[in-house]
Amino acid sequence: MSDKKLTISDNRNGDTFELPILTPTRGQEMVDISSLPKQSGMFTYDPGFTATGSTSSAITFLDGDKGELFYRGYPIEQLAEKCNYLEVCYLLLNGELPNLDQSEQFNTQIMRRTMVAENLRYGLMRSFNHDAHPMAMMTGVIGSLSAFYHEGMDIYNPEMRMLTAHRLIAKMPTIAAGCYKHNIGQPMQFPQNDLSYTGNLLKMMFGNPCEPYEIDPVAEKALDILFILHADHEQNASTSTVRLASSTGCNPYAAIAAGVAALWGPAHGGANEAVLTMLDEIGSVDNIDKYIAKAKDKNDPFRLMGFGHRVYKNYDPRAKLIKTVCHDVLAKYGNDPRLELAMKLEEIAVTDEYFVERKLYPNVDFYSGIIYAALGIPVNMFTVMFTMARTVGWISHWNEMIEDPKMKIGRPRQLYTGKNMRNVPDMSDR
Ligand code: SDX
Repeated sequence: MSDKKLTISDNRNGDTFELPILTPTRGQEMVDISSLPKQSGMFTYDPGFTATGSTSSAITFLDGDKGELFYRGYPIEQLAEKCNYLEVCYLLLNGELPNLDQSEQFNTQIMRRTMVAENLRYGLMRSFNHDAHPMAMMTGVIGSLSAFYHEGMDIYNPEMRMLTAHRLIAKMPTIAAGCYKHNIGQPMQFPQNDLSYTGNLLKMMFGNPCEPYEIDPVAEKALDILFILHADHEQNASTSTVRLASSTGCNPYAAIAAGVAALWGPAHGGANEAVLTMLDEIGSVDNIDKYIAKAKDKNDPFRLMGFGHRVYKNYDPRAKLIKTVCHDVLAKYGNDPRLELAMKLEEIAVTDEYFVERKLYPNVDFYSGIIYAALGIPVNMFTVMFTMARTVGWISHWNEMIEDPKMKIGRPRQLYTGKNMRNVPDMSDR
């Protein structure tokens, strides 16, 4: 334990308090304030947790100033180039990259669990309205999994935790593709376990029983890279939601469903859907200045979707990589005028003082939707794609937290600003 300390003083009475300074492997040092209430009788106040670390973690690190992202110490650029998504899932879950045998075993463990219980597929999923948003279906179906897979309740058994992790990673594409098929009124497709993870997803989404479906390797590879880039991202809102829910000891499927619900918000994973809607609304390069002005107008709720980030105050490294994948996919699938529009919007925004001053750059959601659209994935499925990819991140953080012997239920405090204490008047006096 280092002897670095932060000393703070209370100017009301001259008291001073000493707080330990914690040194990370990478990134900023942190002040451990857990003893402050005992020393000072005061709690800290930080709405939105803009300045608060909620946990220690060894899974992912991002440097917001440099625009760098690492999973278990490996740069995201190298993982996207040298690994496939299931190798990255193994890394996030186990802490090390798999060797060839481990990779083949893990691939089998996952691809042998792709089917879902028949009364989930044929019963529950078909009970939703056809026009249900796929994310509404995902939230409901994932939350129902504990009714079908009871072992997930034994959260203190490491083997059961890994089984649950494998089941969630394996079944997400089957459930996601089923939501899409239900939306378009087509029969849900069964998985085919000898396909790749993303090849299987493409076939379940776009294949049908009436004709053979040929998987396009460009689409298969593009989705695999996108899944790697979306797999984890420290203590973002949905991961923090999963951690807080899981801290009560609830079953992991319910906690992951809470993460799905949080990710759906347009300020978070729902932004990829909102970016395409925004680009369609802007329509042409001629309208960009009008929308940049709207984004800067404090009286206008409009924000440039896909721009800005709580941590990245530089380019989101994932946005840079996704932009490259965009060009590869559109080279095959034909140009999308929205890519030019997005690039022009980026070019104008990143030189505009308002965005420069606030360090607002394109984030992971700015270009991803253009790829999904090129692959024929409808806008209302964009956040479902993010959900599938992020599942391994959520479940890796869940596992890390449950393994931590110091795990406590999360219970933030508040600054009460309501009425002072008063007595209830009789009805005749109200
Ligand atoms: C994801 O946390 C993660 O890691 C998330 C994520 C992950 O992988 O899990 O990276 C995925 O959620 C990416 C973000 C996707 N969301 C969007 O693209 C929606 C648009 N972005 C904004 O809503 C916003 O930038 C946030 C929500 C992403 C971040 O908000 P913050 O950190 O709370 O920043 P803020 O609202 O305090 O903004 C600071 C200033 C404000 O202006 P001032 O009050 O200083 O004058 O910047 C402005 C904001 O008005 N601002 C924007 C803006 N984002 C911030 N102005 C216009 N357009 C924007 N997009």
